[in-house]
Amino acid sequence: MHEGNQTSISEFLLLGLSSQPGKQELLFALFLAMYLVTVVGNTLIVLAISLDPYLHTPMYLFLANLSLADISSISTSVPKMLMNIQTKSPSISYESCITQMYFSIVFVVTDNFLLGVMACDRFVAICHPLNYTTIMGPRLCLWLAAIPWALSNAVALTHTLLLLRSVFCDGHALLHFFCDLAPLLRLSCSDTTVNELVLFVVGSSVITLPFALILVSYACITRAVLRLSRPEGRWKAFSTCGSHLTVVFLFYGTIVGVYFFPSPSDPDNRDKIGALLFTVVTPMMNPFIYSLRNKDMNGALRRLLVGKRALPVMP
Ligand SMILES: *[C@@H]1O[C@H](CO)[C@@H](O)[C@H](O)[C@H]1NC(C)=O
Repeated sequence: MHEGNQTSISEFLLLGLSSQPGKQELLFALFLAMYLVTVVGNTLIVLAISLDPYLHTPMYLFLANLSLADISSISTSVPKMLMNIQTKSPSISYESCITQMYFSIVFVVTDNFLLGVMACDRFVAICHPLNYTTIMGPRLCLWLAAIPWALSNAVALTHTLLLLRSVFCDGHALLHFFCDLAPLLRLSCSDTTVNELVLFVVGSSVITLPFALILVSYACITRAVLRLSRPEGRWKAFSTCGSHLTVVFLFYGTIVGVYFFPSPSDPDNRDKIGALLFTVVTPMMNPFIYSLRNKDMNGALRRLLVGKRALPVMP
């Protein structure tokens, strides 16, 4: 590699989802619609939960955290992409690119850990119902909500510091719609063995740790529920977990589908599909999964939209 090529990369080109000029309007409309749906839906959830004192329980507070992470997650990539389509210029500055990468890692990892925390919460609620309020006190809840945010920042910082050591030469075109870590590593012309090793080790623990928590919680929940004698009791217990299980299947089904099934011969496409599902589709789906299936959420949303104060439910 020539010395002079190595120093001054000042921007990257995001050669988004499609480079065919005819499809740009369609992509713009599609992504704008998905962005608006995600932001509006998740904002409604955060507002409904924070304005309704009846929903100030650990489960809903964690859900509000998840919605916040979802809004932030989609906001790291899609607005910049829309702007680039609008201005017909695919460039992004080096600094913005690194910032985008940092925050996209933070919010996806937070999402993942919050799902694990929510599983633990359902575990205590169903397997130790009598001690639930004592165990899930405000202090523990604050910790359980803070840990995902803290850990995800540590993970993102590790990857970013490692990436800052790599050198980018002539090629600065990313076949991606935002600055994601894996395509950036593939673009680098220095040795990225350490980066890839860390990505593999940290990445797989970030995925397996929450997943293990979820599996253990649900194994215990299933045992507890099957022991209930009345079918209505069983149904009620399962329905409080149903929405969480749906999100979990969506999330981990995506991981398995994207990273284990398609042929690894086309890593650019695999990364693009994976990133699209994680940073756009899952954040968009969460509000629907929670509010359509959940009576309390529906009530809170209706009160929020109609403008009524929450009233105690008459027996
Ligand atoms: C996140 O969870 C914590 C602890 O349960 C809660 O205090 C906080 O209000 C939540 N954040 C949002 C945006 O609801």
